[in-house]
Amino acid sequence: MTKHLFLVGFMGSGKSHWGEKISARTGVPFLDLDVLIEAGEGNSIPEIFARQGESGFRDLERSYLHRVAGLPASIVALGGGTPCFFDNQAVMEASGTSVYLKTAPEVLISRLEREAEQRPLLAQLDRTALHSFVHERLAARESCYLKADIVLDMAQEEKLIQERLEALIRRNK
Ligand code: S3P
Repeated sequence: MTKHLFLVGFMGSGKSHWGEKISARTGVPFLDLDVLIEAGEGNSIPEIFARQGESGFRDLERSYLHRVAGLPASIVALGGGTPCFFDNQAVMEASGTSVYLKTAPEVLISRLEREAEQRPLLAQLDRTALHSFVHERLAARESCYLKADIVLDMAQEEKLIQERLEALIRRNK
C-alpha cells in the first residue's frame, strides 16, 4: 500500500472496529488518530477536552493528522470531527484515499447509548438529548463526510462491507 486508507464517519460508525479488522486480514498497519493523541499527550480524550476545551483538542487533532500523513501507508481511523476542521480534508486528500462509513442515525444512537461516557461530546446527554444531538450534528457534518472519495453504506451485509474495504486496500497498493 502506497497511501493511507482513511476511515471517516460519525462517532459509533465503526471506524476503529473496521480498521482493526481489515488490518488483521490484510497485514496493512492500523492507526487510530484518537489513540495516537492519547498516547502522545499522556491523557485521555475526555481529559484533553476537560483541560483544553474542544478547541485545544482540535489543534492537537490537526497536528497529529499532519504527522500521520508522513508515516508509512496505513489504515487510519479518524475521529468523528477530523475531516470537518482546518485543512484536515486537504491533508487527507494529499496523503490517501478516504471512505465514509455512512450509518443511519438510529443505528448510531443505539450504539452511542452504550458508549457515551468515553466521549466528551456525549457525556452529559440523556436519551432525548442524545437523539437530537446525533440528528443535528450528523446533518451538520454530512457535507464534509461526503467529500470522502468513497461512500460505503454500512446498512449492507458485513461480508460485503469487508469485501469492499479489502478491495480498496488492494487498489491502494
Ligand atoms: C469526536 C469524535 C471522537 C473524538 C472526540 C470528538 C467528534 O472520535 O475524536 O471525542 O467530534 O465527533 P470517535 O468518532 O472515534 O468516537
